Amino acid sequence: MTGETRVLLVVAGGIAAYKALELIRRLREQSIRVRCILTRSGAEFVTPLSLSALTEDKVYGELFSLTDEAEMGHIQLSRDADLMVVAPATADLIAKMATGQADDLASTALLATDKEVLIAPAMNVRMWDHPATRANIATLLNRGVKLVGPNEGDMACGEFGFGRMAEPHEILAAVLDALGQPQAAGGAGPLGAPLAGRSALVTSGPTHEAIDPVRYIANRSSGKQGHAIARALSGLGAKTTLVTGPTQLPDPTGMEVIHIESAQQMLTACETALPADIAVCAAAVADWRVASRSDRKIKKTGNNRSGAGIPKLELTPNPDILASLSQRGNDRPGLVVGFAAETEDVIRQATEKRARKACDWIVANDVSPQSGTFGGAENTVHVIDAQGVDSWARMDKSDVAQRLAERIADYFRNGLDKVAPTAI
Ligand code: CTP
Repeated sequence: MTGETRVLLVVAGGIAAYKALELIRRLREQSIRVRCILTRSGAEFVTPLSLSALTEDKVYGELFSLTDEAEMGHIQLSRDADLMVVAPATADLIAKMATGQADDLASTALLATDKEVLIAPAMNVRMWDHPATRANIATLLNRGVKLVGPNEGDMACGEFGFGRMAEPHEILAAVLDALGQPQAAGGAGPLGAPLAGRSALVTSGPTHEAIDPVRYIANRSSGKQGHAIARALSGLGAKTTLVTGPTQLPDPTGMEVIHIESAQQMLTACETALPADIAVCAAAVADWRVASRSDRKIKKTGNNRSGAGIPKLELTPNPDILASLSQRGNDRPGLVVGFAAETEDVIRQATEKRARKACDWIVANDVSPQSGTFGGAENTVHVIDAQGVDSWARMDKSDVAQRLAERIADYFRNGLDKVAPTAI
């Protein structure tokens, strides 16, 4: 990326504003020039001085500052950038963007820009879930505004859920993607993108196995862990493909997302995505599907297979995607990571599963009902490889994802992918 690339960063009011400082640092590491607009409420959280020190530029605040207008008008300010980024994007500023209000410099520049806009929302979970915000976000997405996050987690207000601003490394990945430079982080060193130049394939979510056109067999997977892993790998610079079953989650930005329903479709999508350096199978793939699905809705009487009111479902095994990726020949990914969902004797069962499926690492988690893992936001995992068991404390799924992605980056940094698979 040349030194000419320019980002106009709008910092609005919210506790997440402090992360804007780290974002600026990361953008500057990529030789991206950053100019800031700090809203009046944003200035309650970060000072113009710190933004100015990091950007090595003036920070813009008021709409009608005669000095600013003489130097650079607000229209030119927004046109001068290659991309506008709003981080944090508050519910208020998002609403202004959706309705085209222009009553301060930030909203005016956002209305006047002819460039792409990327927003990183940050707000309380109820504000994020409110129909007004949902409608405003839908309006902005329809207009082509790009979205990164928000993530799920603990909030400064003490509540829990979606609304936490994406991490700086995730916003950086989305910025590079919006600038058409997904690999630009390459060579940025350990702080930048240690997985730049690597490709990753991640499976996530449940599969749906059709019984007939209206019914299916499914499971409780939310896709949170798999999606978070895809985001974390992409954030470390990997060119990521996410193959996901049906979930309630928004598609992560900065990567290719392939939607499938059944295990067979997931296998085909994964095979098509090869070659990949890294494969992480976090999906809860249905082990069985209905042997012969009905093309017509099975009726209570009349056309069901048994002809006796209650149909009998005959099941047949699904392909095992993890085992199949682990046992491929020349195009076997350099590192194959599986998950083990267990309800008892977690480590022993997972260790056996690793050997049975021939993957390199297995991430074991307890999915018994009292663990709250399925559908919940936290996870307690044990990473098992040929060396032994690495047990991690209970943490947010996004933190598990980040730590796993960093462990994967270390593996490649140390050249361990060159050693025989599964021996390490
Ligand atoms: N997996 C897969 N394809 C399948 C079944 C599982 O790719 N048809 C992967 C999962 O994504 C996970 C790992 O295999 O990475 C283990 O999944 P898990 O449900 O724990 O184990 P199963 O293989 O289904 O075995 P069991 O249900 O007997 O525990």
